[in-house]
Amino acid sequence: MGQEPAIALRGVCKEYRREQIKIPVLTDLKLTVDEGEFLALMGPSGSGKTTLLNLLAGLDRPTTGEVVVHGQDLAQMSEGQIARWRSRNVGFIFQLYNLIPVLTAFENVEMPLLLTSLSKRQRRENVRTALRVVGLEGREDHFPRQLSGGQEQRVAIARAIVTDPYLLVADEPTGDLDRQSAEEILELMEQLHREFQKTIVMVTHDPIAARRASRLLKLDKGKLVGDVIQAQEVAS
Ligand SMILES: Nc1ncnc2c1ncn2[C@@H]1O[C@H](COP(=O)(O)OP(=O)(O)OP(=O)(O)O)[C@@H](O)[C@H]1O
Ligand SMILES: [Mg+2]
Repeated sequence: MGQEPAIALRGVCKEYRREQIKIPVLTDLKLTVDEGEFLALMGPSGSGKTTLLNLLAGLDRPTTGEVVVHGQDLAQMSEGQIARWRSRNVGFIFQLYNLIPVLTAFENVEMPLLLTSLSKRQRRENVRTALRVVGLEGREDHFPRQLSGGQEQRVAIARAIVTDPYLLVADEPTGDLDRQSAEEILELMEQLHREFQKTIVMVTHDPIAARRASRLLKLDKGKLVGDVIQAQEVAS
C-alpha cells in the first residue's frame, strides 16, 4: 500500500502548434510525487504551470512521455475513459472560483455528484459534509453573489472535495483574494493535506502561499528546477 507514487512523469514534453510553428512549453519533465504530498509549483508567467496542471488532471495530453496518476497511464486512456477517471479522481480549484451564479452554494457543490450514481439523500449528506469541512454550514442557500471572495473560494473547494478525489489541483487559488482571505484558504488547503492526506498540486505566484506546501518546485523555460522539501514536513 502506498508504494506507488501518486504522480509519475517520465520524459514529458508538451508543445503547442500554431500553423507550421511548434511552440515547446514543457521539455523532458521527470517528476515523482508521493501520496499525500502538498506540492507548490511556482514559475514565471508563461513557464507552463497551467499546462502541467492540465496534464496531471487529464485535461490535456503530453506530446510525448508518460503521465501516470494513481497508477493510471493517462495517455493510454480514451477520451471517454479519461473523462470518467477525472470525475472520480480529480478535484479542481481555480483562481476565479468558477461557481455557477444562478445556483446556490449547495447546488454548486452538488454538481460533480450529479455525474455519480449516488442517491439524492447520499448527495445531500456529502454536500453537507463538504460544506462543513470548509466552514460554510448554514450558507447552503446563498448564491455566489451573496458571498465574499474567500467564501466563494470555500464553496469551490467544497465542490472540489465532495467526490473525495484522489488528487486536488489548484491554479492560483489565492490569486484573487486579499491577504486575510488568502491565509484562510491556505489554512484550509493545509488541513486537506494534514487531516485528509490529499495529494495536492498548487500553482502560485505567492512565496508566502508556497511556504505552506510540503514541497516546492519551480518551472523555468520548460524545465523543473529547485526541488525543495520544506521544513514543516520534517516536524510533523
Ligand atoms: N492552447 C494553447 N495553444 C497555444 N499555446 C498555448 C496554449 N496554452 C498555453 N499556450 C502557451 O504555452 C505557454 C505556457 O502557458 P501556461 O498557461 O501553461 O503558462 P503559466 O505558467 O500557467 O502562466 P501564468 O502564470 O501566466 O498563468 C505560453 O507561452 C502560452 O502562450
Ligand atoms: Mg497559468
